[in-house]
Amino acid sequence: MVSPAPSGEEGSLEIRDSRTGRTYTVPIKDGTIRALDLRAIKTDDDDFGLMTYDPAFMNTASCRSGITYIDGDKGILRYRGYPIEQLAESATFLEVAYLLRNGELPNRAEYDKWVHDITFHTYVHENIRKFLEGFRYDAHPMSMLCSSVAALSSFYPTARDIFNPAERQISVIRLLAKVPTLAAFSYRHVKGLPSVYPDNELSYTENMLSMVARMTEPKYHANPVMARALEVLFILHADHEQNCSTSAVRGVGSSHVDPFSAVAAGIAALFGPLHGGANEQVLHMITEIGDKKNIPAFIESVKGGKGSRLMGFGHRVYKSYDPRAKIVKKLAYDVFEITGTDKDLDIALELERIALEDDYFVSRKLYPNVDFYTGLIYRAMGFPTEYFTVLFAIARTAGWLAQWEEGLVDKEQKIWRPRQIYTGPDERQYKSRLV
Ligand code: ACO
Repeated sequence: MVSPAPSGEEGSLEIRDSRTGRTYTVPIKDGTIRALDLRAIKTDDDDFGLMTYDPAFMNTASCRSGITYIDGDKGILRYRGYPIEQLAESATFLEVAYLLRNGELPNRAEYDKWVHDITFHTYVHENIRKFLEGFRYDAHPMSMLCSSVAALSSFYPTARDIFNPAERQISVIRLLAKVPTLAAFSYRHVKGLPSVYPDNELSYTENMLSMVARMTEPKYHANPVMARALEVLFILHADHEQNCSTSAVRGVGSSHVDPFSAVAAGIAALFGPLHGGANEQVLHMITEIGDKKNIPAFIESVKGGKGSRLMGFGHRVYKSYDPRAKIVKKLAYDVFEITGTDKDLDIALELERIALEDDYFVSRKLYPNVDFYTGLIYRAMGFPTEYFTVLFAIARTAGWLAQWEEGLVDKEQKIWRPRQIYTGPDERQYKSRLV
């Protein structure tokens, strides 16, 4: 049962099924085989066909994507072909958001319109602000952001018309514009401060800082180093191909729900401590260590599997230094020049030095990831620990939206529905145990 590889394929994979003695030829394209091709491999006509088992999707491509390229071994990250280092050095966040969605950098007219549209959709309906007031004083701002973004879907029912490009465009603009407003309102609520409304004369990051920090001054003037630092952090966090939250957005979006609901799913996924919550965990870990002299004992407890993991270290894809971590480390020094360093930074640096020399981490290719330093920068900028992941979510909204739309218009995609290997009981008869 051998079929020749169709023309255009790179080659083929010969599979011999020892159960039947039959041989199959599966085409290889783009370094992959199609899992569905394996279904033809059966023991008899009643057999469902061979499946692949891939818990946590360690080796399964869920889509084709032209947005972000990562080479984890070489430490390469590119958005639409542009190296992250160049974008972080010279671009603005909204330029990057445009690039991610449209595939090309905007020209002056395109950029001005994009920035104008996003700037003029920053306000949210007053009922949304009242909705946020209902949260308790100690609500986690990620819970507030997640629910308020989901709630926005009820304010824009036409956003459900997802196959209408004009509706998609306005939804993308609204989400990029309003997520910082919701994030800032959540911050002010937790602090017990009145909400500061958006200032349309400011840039995206200056406006964010104004909504968070403005008190009695009629106009907020952000420190340019802080505004640029936030811009760079937003660029670094804007997309990272098929990570947990992006896969959540694509998976939920595959049901053809509106983008507000799909992005809310992404925010929920990002909240987890193994994903976006890691920068918050880095700070908790450093506080727990408390002093440089406690680092060796802490490292030993990590290695012995007794304590927590070394938060901010390791990555599913990067098996060398995370390219974003290099940029963030330099950025940290720019910010600390203004704010000054402290004991926690000293602990972080020493922790990094010891871990990078320790065979446990070296042999497992565990290097600092982007979150190792972002938490320290955000704290130096005055943001509370609980707020770090919210800042990540603002930036990642750009990537989620680009990935959501790419998945939606991809003719090969359908509603996501993985298979399972059933391990439960065989059929049995109901007999009540309520006696
Ligand atoms: N500290 C100590 N040991 C670790 C760490 C760590 N941070 N990360 C991985 N390991 C060890 C594991 O115990 C395992 O060791 P073993 O082979 O002896 O069992 C080995 O390294 C491989 O680990 P996995 O869990 O299989 O790696 P995986 O790719 O599934 O995990 C993850 C990636 C979740 C990021 C992991 O490295 C981790 O938990 N890091 C800490 C949390 C963190 O910083 N997350 C942020 C990721 S970046 C982001 O989401 C923006």
